[in-house]
Amino acid sequence: MNGVAGAGNGGGDPQPPAPRPGIPRHVAIIMDGNGRWATSRRLPRVAGHSRGVDAVRTAIESSIAAGVEYLTLFAFSSENWKRPPDEVSVLMRLFVSSLQREVDNMRRNGVRLRVVGQIETFEPRLRELIARAQEQSAGNTRLNLTVCASYGGRWDIVQAAQRFAEQSASGACPADEAGFERYLSMSFAPDPDLLIRTGGERRISNFLIWQMAYAELYFTDALWPDFGRAEFTTALEWYAQRERRFGRTSEQLQRAVG
Ligand code: IPE
Ligand code: IPE
Ligand code: MG
Repeated sequence: MNGVAGAGNGGGDPQPPAPRPGIPRHVAIIMDGNGRWATSRRLPRVAGHSRGVDAVRTAIESSIAAGVEYLTLFAFSSENWKRPPDEVSVLMRLFVSSLQREVDNMRRNGVRLRVVGQIETFEPRLRELIARAQEQSAGNTRLNLTVCASYGGRWDIVQAAQRFAEQSASGACPADEAGFERYLSMSFAPDPDLLIRTGGERRISNFLIWQMAYAELYFTDALWPDFGRAEFTTALEWYAQRERRFGRTSEQLQRAVG
């Protein structure tokens, strides 16, 4: 999945934005609440997932407008395979149709797509579409969009640990945190600065558990299909108010800027 072979983007791809103070470089989102959005309207749960796709488009546009460099979306967890088969198959169909539809949009908007997770658990057609979308968007540099699908944070750590153990034992990589991180599936990205979870739950649900070590955690009761531009802006404003100390004292940070 990582290091997808580069393919031209057909030109017109805007340059990556310069980092902006107070704007998170990397936003990760647990997109939760689709089912409740639908059942509160007496609709089948899958109607909520369809509306959720529209909210994904808005989140991409909002990220580009704000100058966010990495947007990582939790679309389907390792544990979501336990859902009723009908719901799982609708989610897979939505994934297929979104990939087919959005490749042109991604090119226009300079979005590079990566899909991270246990891709081998998907049916061959979906795997092909994922590979093609990744290749076709590999030259885009404005926004790095990562969709975590069939993804679990514990799976990620175990698969990294297996490869790390082999490489560090032979001296091919340093036996420290930085050496280990090279094998995590999001090693191409900086750690998330801001985690947003919609849908009212205050939990991580096995998302990027290693990478989240110093993320600012923003929980909102808004259900994912209702999470629009205004809600995204509110989350960014909240983030801009945080003082990120990374273990230091506030006084140390004031001195560094002063
Ligand atoms: C999130 O919405 C989408 C996925 C997990 C695939 P849910 O389907 O979990 O919605 P709720 O939490 O039941 O409302
Ligand atoms: C987390 O939502 C997974 C995704 C958004 C893809 P869930 O709805 O599956 O989380 P739990 O089961 O309530 O923790
Ligand atoms: Mg849920």
